[in-house]
Amino acid sequence: MESKSQTSEVFSLGDIPGEYFSRQDESPDGDFYRVPRLVAHIDDPAISSLGEFFRPYIPIDADVLDLMSAYLSHIPPDIRAACHRVAGLGLSGAEMAANTQLTEHVVQSLNENPVLPYPEGTFDTVLCTVSVQYLLRPADVFAEVRRVLRPGGSFLVAFSNRCFPTKATRLWLSTDDSQHAALVQLCFEESGGWEQIKTHDLSPHPGRTDPLYAVSARKPQE
Ligand SMILES: C[S@@+](CC[C@H](N)C(=O)[O-])C[C@H]1O[C@@H](n2cnc3c(N)ncnc32)[C@H](O)[C@@H]1O
Repeated sequence: MESKSQTSEVFSLGDIPGEYFSRQDESPDGDFYRVPRLVAHIDDPAISSLGEFFRPYIPIDADVLDLMSAYLSHIPPDIRAACHRVAGLGLSGAEMAANTQLTEHVVQSLNENPVLPYPEGTFDTVLCTVSVQYLLRPADVFAEVRRVLRPGGSFLVAFSNRCFPTKATRLWLSTDDSQHAALVQLCFEESGGWEQIKTHDLSPHPGRTDPLYAVSARKPQE
């Protein structure tokens, strides 16, 4: 699947009733991540596929932000070795401290504060892997990602069919893979100022290993 977005002609995030952006577990998100999980959240074939997908979007000497980061950032080792900076932002300081690909990390709940703690135009590439389903105000976060990207930089949002169901939005739990892609495309469209919004099916062995999809978009050159 690789498609241009047509979702804005169908509906907007504002048409979705507010209860769909609620979760079974509404306790503070930090509580859920208090005990570190030093694990991979997708299987090895999906991780390899994701790394190859990242490759052309991370230039040499790149400054990268891994948003909703944890123990693994999934950047191919040779690409990581050529990066200048890989910043992590997530909820578990212990998981990010154990992530050998990060140069630094910040603990922040994007559901409490979607404003990213970086100046405008800081990063070449922003990654968000298997986590977008936990955002209560995704368009606000996408707008912030656009602000902190340099012109021409990319935001890569990848997701599978696995999640922590008590923390995912009711909207995510009530929709399927292709609707998830449409929703992420809508977040790009409604946060505004993106080009080349594309959906990618990265599933390495459909039906046998974890499915994997991504939506990519670019901040236009000035
Ligand atoms: C399934 S893990 C994925 C972690 C990592 N991106 C990966 O690919 O392995 C979900 C991550 O989302 C982050 N997260 C969940 N809710 C968040 C929030 N409200 N603000 C910031 N990060 C959040 C957590 O830190 C958690 O590690």
